[in-house]
Amino acid sequence: MSTQIKSMIQSSIGRKWIVAITGILMIGFIFVHMTGNLQMFAGTPDKINLYAHLLHSYPLVLWGFRLGLLGVTALHIWGTLSLARENRRAKPVDYAVAGRKSRLKVTWTSVTMVISGTVILGFVVFHLLHFTAQVVDKSYASMETAVGGVAMHDVYRMVIKGFSNPWISGFYLIAMALLFSHLKHGAASVFQTFGLRDRQLVQVIQAGAWILALALFVGFSSIPVGVMLGWIRP
Ligand code: HEM
Repeated sequence: MSTQIKSMIQSSIGRKWIVAITGILMIGFIFVHMTGNLQMFAGTPDKINLYAHLLHSYPLVLWGFRLGLLGVTALHIWGTLSLARENRRAKPVDYAVAGRKSRLKVTWTSVTMVISGTVILGFVVFHLLHFTAQVVDKSYASMETAVGGVAMHDVYRMVIKGFSNPWISGFYLIAMALLFSHLKHGAASVFQTFGLRDRQLVQVIQAGAWILALALFVGFSSIPVGVMLGWIRP
């Protein structure tokens, strides 16, 4: 391992950068994934089916991307946990001193980040079993369609069937709400890590993070809600 990477891992600011950069990469993926999923509203099943078919047409690229995303997620979790452990060790008696209020505030934020992050991780595992591995409902795997004479998986019908179950839709909506809470704080923290959190810009940065998190929440949630309310039909 090069000495530069070693010292980056050892210093807490280096690990904060790792958490911030991996966070940005994951937000990028989530944003692209949401815009892809919004093709459920295209008025025809063909759009999202063709899109999913295209993504699966290059297995090497797909698996390279999947492994990259897995690595990025692992680094993000490792960085967060190691910083939290270090933080606990460095300030064990802060509660008893005058700075109690601010210390409690920081602790509450990190507690909510850990809780929301853990539920989101659990959601992603369920989500992969649900729509990628298709083991939650075995009938998904046999849903086939043809577009322009080309046979492909019917992702459109699979998503509708998935969200016709109110328990599954409810769980997705709870996970999306926690994703909102996680990103609202996380996206703003990135600027602090990079030293860009200028005092006058604080409100603009927080509003930007809030809008981004809300856009993702509304975009993703619109799909289970759309299926439940009959806006998206087979
Ligand atoms: C209503 C919300 C969502 C819908 C309808 C949805 C839909 C889908 C579908 C259909 C697939 C399978 C694609 C395929 O194999 O053809 C998929 C894969 C995936 N989704 Fe989602 N998704 C949603 C939310 C999310 C969120 C919030 C995250 C992350 C926090 C996420 C992360 C992933 C990942 C990592 C994969 C695997 C990609 C791969 O195959 O490499 N999804 N999603």
